[in-house]
Amino acid sequence: MVHLFADFCDTFLLCILSRLSPDFDHAIYLGLRGFAQISMDYELIDSGDGEKLERFGEYVLARPDPQALWRKLLSEEEWKKADGTFTRDEKSGGNSGGWSLKAGLPSRWSIDFSGLKFWIKPTPFKHVGLFPEQATNWDWMREKIKQFNKGTIGQLDTDAASADIEVLNLFGYTGGATLACAQAGAKVVHIDGSKAAITWARENAELSGLEKKPVRWILDDARAFVKREIKRGRKYHGIIMDPPSFGHGPDNEVWKLEEDFMKLIEACYSILADKTPTSGPLFFLVNGYAAGYSAMAYENALRPLVAKYGGKIEKGELTLTEKSGADGASGATGRSLPCGIFARWTFK
Ligand SMILES: C[S@@+](CC[C@H](N)C(=O)[O-])C[C@H]1O[C@@H](n2cnc3c(N)ncnc32)[C@H](O)[C@@H]1O
Repeated sequence: MVHLFADFCDTFLLCILSRLSPDFDHAIYLGLRGFAQISMDYELIDSGDGEKLERFGEYVLARPDPQALWRKLLSEEEWKKADGTFTRDEKSGGNSGGWSLKAGLPSRWSIDFSGLKFWIKPTPFKHVGLFPEQATNWDWMREKIKQFNKGTIGQLDTDAASADIEVLNLFGYTGGATLACAQAGAKVVHIDGSKAAITWARENAELSGLEKKPVRWILDDARAFVKREIKRGRKYHGIIMDPPSFGHGPDNEVWKLEEDFMKLIEACYSILADKTPTSGPLFFLVNGYAAGYSAMAYENALRPLVAKYGGKIEKGELTLTEKSGADGASGATGRSLPCGIFARWTFK
């Protein structure tokens, strides 16, 4: 119900913005959307001085965030009430650190978010199993898949209504994008190089009641998997790529964004569905964090898709909007926290 209301707010907002300015900046819209995206179980409470304060269900966590360049609005006393605080180890250049957790905080707990359920667990890497800013991308993919299934989308005429949409999610982490696509009716292949991440994603599927959906959970290096799919001649209608700046596959294959990103994008072009009168590729979505690239760089990396299939690319920043300021009023601060960049191609 809350989700439906959020969708309604979103559509309403989009209509108004389009009327005010037909070419309003999509990135600005996405920022606003972070505000319209209502989830009772998640909120960004405050941010500043290199940290963010978030509520996940019943529990509040404070974590470093280098983007929070400004000043906190809530008092240090309020921040100290957090159930868990991650402190950076300055000697390691801020790359590692540890949690100080209050007694009574469970080792993990579940929350409802964006029509799905997630296990939240503070990890030694500062992550907690959810990147809430991704919800706008999940909604966008859900919409594309639903339109495809109804046969109401561009080149895919009514015959497409019976086709299976196959989505490949590379660097799938705890499964948010995979579950959103599966919930919308797609078959999904979920790849991650970490066994712990695959287990967590499967547990989220079960928690969300989606364990019977057609998802293949595969522990593999993203590049190795795509290479094998090229050999096997497999094709996908949608590809999602959410790579870290630095990571590794299950056999310690090192992933470095600046060296590997473009090669993987180009390999993925070979496994995108061919354009036929009744089918074709539906979307290609790329996310980025902390690597210093602009969304325009990601847009340019996807431009060959426009040359080959037509369609359009949207790009922008993913943001989370603070829900309450020092006065406690909803949305009072007007501040949004930048959380990463995206570029997404769709054929229409
Ligand atoms: C930034 S997270 C992705 C976030 C996720 N898409 C979401 O929105 O919840 C990066 C993921 O990439 C995985 N990874 C890193 N290097 C990899 C590689 N070479 N092959 C496959 N997965 C890798 C990590 O295990 C991690 O789960």
